[in-house]
Amino acid sequence: MLILSVESSCDETAVALVEDGRRVLTDQIFSQVALHKIYGGVVPEIAARSHLEVIVQLADRALKEAGVSRRNIDAVACTYAPGLIGAVLVGVNFAKSAALALDVPLIPVHHIRGHIAANYIAYPELEPPFLCLAISGGNTMLVDVQGYTDMRVLGRTRDDAAGECFDKSARVMGLGYPGGKPIDDLSQTGDDHRYDLPRPYVGDNPFDMSFSGLKTSVVNIVHHCEQTGEPLDKPGLAASLCRAVSESLVDRTMEAAKMLGYQHIAVAGGVAANSRIRRDFQTACEEAGKALYTPPMRLCGDNGAMIGAQGYYEYLAGTRAGSDLNAYATMEL
Ligand code: KG4
Repeated sequence: MLILSVESSCDETAVALVEDGRRVLTDQIFSQVALHKIYGGVVPEIAARSHLEVIVQLADRALKEAGVSRRNIDAVACTYAPGLIGAVLVGVNFAKSAALALDVPLIPVHHIRGHIAANYIAYPELEPPFLCLAISGGNTMLVDVQGYTDMRVLGRTRDDAAGECFDKSARVMGLGYPGGKPIDDLSQTGDDHRYDLPRPYVGDNPFDMSFSGLKTSVVNIVHHCEQTGEPLDKPGLAASLCRAVSESLVDRTMEAAKMLGYQHIAVAGGVAANSRIRRDFQTACEEAGKALYTPPMRLCGDNGAMIGAQGYYEYLAGTRAGSDLNAYATMEL
């Protein structure tokens, strides 16, 4: 079954063609980073307008590159939540029009379910049940993936997402936007014990997380150095931050895997590209004798293929949308 899939929830426009949920024929991605860089973060209105400008061209290019005729498309899938509302609306509206014109079913896909499904592309042998830590710019959640469309959120951030913590910390450190990758790069030469950063635990749910205190600590360290003239050890701060975020995430995930008896642990979302987090998961899973799934970098960030992968399983489960499909800024998994 061939699905044309669309992603436009934030600052990447993506259109992919995916066969049977696992085989990616093409994944066309247009990154808006250059447009938002000067503002130090994503400007929602600019994001929506940019999606509108490029989405049709990306779809044309996807068909051309895959050598596929429009008649071969069996369904259209799109991210319909969560995300920047104006941005998501563009993808939803395009997908609706395409489904109507091609006279094929329209499948709405939850963005985080898509991130989790990126693992199905990277690991053809992976099937639920497994435990997945979804870490992106706007979301951080630990998910018990019981089936392809049957998921339970075990824990989530109570405030900032892990990616937001990286992005805001990078901004105050003068590293630009998006900040995760520059912090990761800078951390390679830093001492990860240079700064003592908090690892907050949230009382009543052992799997809930919090990153705003960590972000504030980084901001305070930078301001303290600016005010006192004390030199800021940027690589040391970057390495200490990566260590703090990684330990918060890895400890909780391993604890949940132990409690629920999961042997298979997957990581998903843009922050899953972080080298420290990947390394720490590798070590923890080796020690605990568990199998680890970390998608390659290109499948960690937003892409259209992951929406096509999840779209296939949603289709099999009977999920369909009509021409009244709306977009939502927030939505439970
Ligand atoms: O999944 P994604 O592309 O978009 C959302 O759905 O939010 O994730 C983007 C996030 C940004 O916060 C970015 O700074 C972060 O992923 N990121 C990283 C790295 N690469 C991207 N964070 C830490 N280390 C990285 N290497």
